[in-house]
Amino acid sequence: MSNICKQALLCGGCALIKVPYEEQLKQKVSAVAKLLDPFYTQKIKVNPSVLTKYYRNKIELSFTHQVVYKEPLNKKVKRDKSVPLEFEEVLGFRQMGRWDRAVNLTDCFLFNQNLSWFIYKINLWAKNKNIPFYDQRKHTGILRTLMMRQSFNEKGGMLVFISQAPFDTEGLVEVCHQVYPEYSVLTAINDGMSDASPIKDLKVLSGSAIMQEALLVDDKKIVFNLSPQSFFQTNTKTANVMYQKVRSCVAKIKPETLYDLYGGAGSFSLTNADLVKEAFCVECVPEAVENGKQNALTNNIKNVNFICQTTEDFLAQNKLKVKDALVILDPARAGVHPKACELLKNSGIKNILYISCNPKTLAENLAVLTQNYKVKNAECFDFFPNTKHIETFVELELI
Ligand SMILES: C[S@@+](CC[C@H](N)C(=O)[O-])C[C@H]1O[C@@H](n2cnc3c(N)ncnc32)[C@H](O)[C@@H]1O
Repeated sequence: MSNICKQALLCGGCALIKVPYEEQLKQKVSAVAKLLDPFYTQKIKVNPSVLTKYYRNKIELSFTHQVVYKEPLNKKVKRDKSVPLEFEEVLGFRQMGRWDRAVNLTDCFLFNQNLSWFIYKINLWAKNKNIPFYDQRKHTGILRTLMMRQSFNEKGGMLVFISQAPFDTEGLVEVCHQVYPEYSVLTAINDGMSDASPIKDLKVLSGSAIMQEALLVDDKKIVFNLSPQSFFQTNTKTANVMYQKVRSCVAKIKPETLYDLYGGAGSFSLTNADLVKEAFCVECVPEAVENGKQNALTNNIKNVNFICQTTEDFLAQNKLKVKDALVILDPARAGVHPKACELLKNSGIKNILYISCNPKTLAENLAVLTQNYKVKNAECFDFFPNTKHIETFVELELI
């Protein structure tokens, strides 16, 4: 089997797939080093991805009704307007740079080896049932997005069929289970204008609305309950290396209080709970907070407080304990809110660990934080092989 997927040039999923993996790492780390140079000039260690193929625990595919392009990559080829438009129904990743087109996946290396077979089966099932795929331009059609999640350290996974309106699901579970017998099958509605609009009316056709994944740190296994909407790092195996690194730092710093800001379903609080007296996990998505509480119960952890609030409001409204406290920051791509950044800069807390999926916003935040903190260490973790993205971890200490 080739290492290069045939759709690589068309699909947005793996932009760097033609670059050898070692070279990808070099390019990505040197881009991070450039951005961090004003704050950290030492060599940045890079932790490669544990898996470079089939590494994602979650993907989202689009069901798309689109015009057939004879040569989709060649913009110069003009359509013969004397011939009527031909349409096709495609289930796959979005075409690179296109919001309205998807790519037929036949040998994708992102999720698992059964993906192409599964896509083939679902296409066939939808065709037999005559269920139309969504047309992004006209906002017509029914089937819209397929969210797929799989567990690496626990069993099973989850398939969520997101549609514009309810559809006849007869036979769907059977088809799904022919390929993924242990996965839950769910439906949900997105009747908004964008594919990214929030889902509603979640229905379980088989299994459960919650799946489990685990992180293995030191000799512990921490189990996470994930709903379709919950955030979990998409590369479980490599994320595990990063959570272990953070745990080693926490063990060295020995804080009494841990502030886990942008906490999601509690990954940092729960993997470090036994090392601290008390943790505060601050997260603004209510479902993730509920998952976090459930995760604490599942793992019999009692010293984590889950708070549903934005980090900026939490910092503005609460006086943090300063002595023997540690802050972990793990924001989304937008980075830490400027108000929160100012408050943290003046917090007096001795140590901050910052995990970032966007080195640009990391650098913007460091420009503020390093007025009072110095960067002690920076490392990269490659959660996203074959893409230009990389995770950066930075240890900050009060000057
Ligand atoms: C990169 S994820 C990290 C989650 C978690 N730390 C983990 O390791 O799984 C960022 C999280 O921040 C949350 N979030 C986004 N903006 C926020 C804000 N202003 N305040 C608090 N949480 C926020 C998101 O919902 C998401 O769960």
